[in-house]
Amino acid sequence: MAKVLEVQKLCKSFGGVEAVKNLSFDLVEGQLLAMIGPNGAGKSTCFNLINGQLKPDYGSVVVMGHRINGYRPWQVWSLGVGRTFQITSTFTSMTVLENIKMAILSFHRRTKSLITRVRSLYSDESMELLKLVGIEDQHDRACGVLAYGDLKRVELAVALANRPKLLLMDEPTAGMGAAERQSLMELTADIVRRRNIGVLFTEHDMDVVFTYADRIIVLNRGELVAEGTPDEVRQNSKVQEIYLGSRA
Ligand SMILES: Nc1ncnc2c1ncn2[C@@H]1O[C@H](COP(=O)(O)OP(=O)(O)OP(=O)(O)O)[C@@H](O)[C@H]1O
Ligand SMILES: [Mg+2]
Repeated sequence: MAKVLEVQKLCKSFGGVEAVKNLSFDLVEGQLLAMIGPNGAGKSTCFNLINGQLKPDYGSVVVMGHRINGYRPWQVWSLGVGRTFQITSTFTSMTVLENIKMAILSFHRRTKSLITRVRSLYSDESMELLKLVGIEDQHDRACGVLAYGDLKRVELAVALANRPKLLLMDEPTAGMGAAERQSLMELTADIVRRRNIGVLFTEHDMDVVFTYADRIIVLNRGELVAEGTPDEVRQNSKVQEIYLGSRA
């Protein structure tokens, strides 16, 4: 299986804080990799080093064979990296369908087209994506009036419009109820397996992590402390210590 992400000896400090310390891991296509760890462990920093928002102090990030150190976020995106955000990021005054069309237009490098043209372009492709995430019946509603769970689905469809090989999901189920969480993750897992997309996700809900991850990496104070299958990680004494310690 091809590697979609290779992180090697990654380091990033903020002043005296070593947020990410000598971190190495790989992700292959079709795999769901969860990155877990207590607050301040370095998860978001690591995400931002991969998506181009931060530059590493040391080490490298290789996406689909391209070393992306120093790339801007849009350059990383153009390699086929989709992302969803902890805080949803749709255009709230546009309809669901228009949001997806904008994303598809960007994929086809036609962002300079007038927004009015969005209405007439890529309708079929957009509706296909909305069907895929199960919200085609909401297509003509403004994103600003959608239920939160539906908005997360729009965001997933926007990320998929880029036809990514790597999907970065920062707490995809944050703010959702338990049932909604399970159904969004089930849908995500189903789509990414069918499309052979590698997914890196952070998540505080351990039920979600242990149900959907193929592999888990555990960070603590910027360092990798454990890596393995859900069973291996669950039984790891260092992980148990970190989680029991952080709850106390
Ligand atoms: N821009 C920044 N400037 C200064 N310090 C930062 C910055 N971003 C992160 N840090 C520090 O780096 C460390 C790692 O933070 P990070 O946000 O990556 O953790 P996290 O694992 O995402 O935590 P959480 O689970 O709470 O989201 C923390 O000590 C944090 O205070
Ligand atoms: Mg974070």
